[in-house]
Amino acid sequence: MPLAHINNRSVLLAPSILSADFARLGEQAYHAEQAGADWIQVDVMDGMFVPNITIGPPVVAALRQSISITLDCHLMIAQPERYVKSFIDAGADHITIHAEATTHLHRTIQHIKELGVTAGVALNPATPLSTLEEILSYIDLVLIMGVNPGFGGQTYIPTMTAKITRLRQMLDQHNLSHVHLQVDGGIKAENIRDVTQAGANNLVIGSAIYNDTQTVAESIEQLRRALA
Ligand code: DX5
Repeated sequence: MPLAHINNRSVLLAPSILSADFARLGEQAYHAEQAGADWIQVDVMDGMFVPNITIGPPVVAALRQSISITLDCHLMIAQPERYVKSFIDAGADHITIHAEATTHLHRTIQHIKELGVTAGVALNPATPLSTLEEILSYIDLVLIMGVNPGFGGQTYIPTMTAKITRLRQMLDQHNLSHVHLQVDGGIKAENIRDVTQAGANNLVIGSAIYNDTQTVAESIEQLRRALA
């Protein structure tokens, strides 16, 4: 159930499990689904592309058994082409790779789509939108990082809002309104309206949903109210 409808766009919520209790991942993902989440995002990290290590295909396969909503794997790994099929075989419905992490972005996006799932390209904060020029028409999603990837609970980088606005303009100019504009990193009730008004329609939110102060359902309801 979308969080809101803004500028004629449904705004989808994709809780990130990075801040969830890793001893109860399936249960935590299920709670988010029950509370109305549209997607679940799995933050895959290899300790090379980002300074952290999280989980791999076996855990994604286990998570797959716990939820029926879209399972989105954000591969923050070097040379993601090596593992795309493993994550899809584990049950991923969507794969996002970083433009900075592969030499052959077009070939890897083609490979993801040939395997029957949707494909996204993520840009780190300093990576310009021009990186997307030759790939934009082949992808289903662009992920704008609101923080430098690797950890949850970081502060949103405010200059990313203008980048979101420019990307929305780019998508509109090329008649690519079907492409998800996903934003990941530092999104809270306090800034969620800024990023959606700028053009984001798919929000990856971790520590504002999985924390010690509210239940998952309370957190999601707070985010929904912030967009009402
Ligand atoms: C960064 C991660 C985080 C996570 C969201 O590498 O990708 O952005 O998904 O975490 P919060 O919402 O806590 O910033």
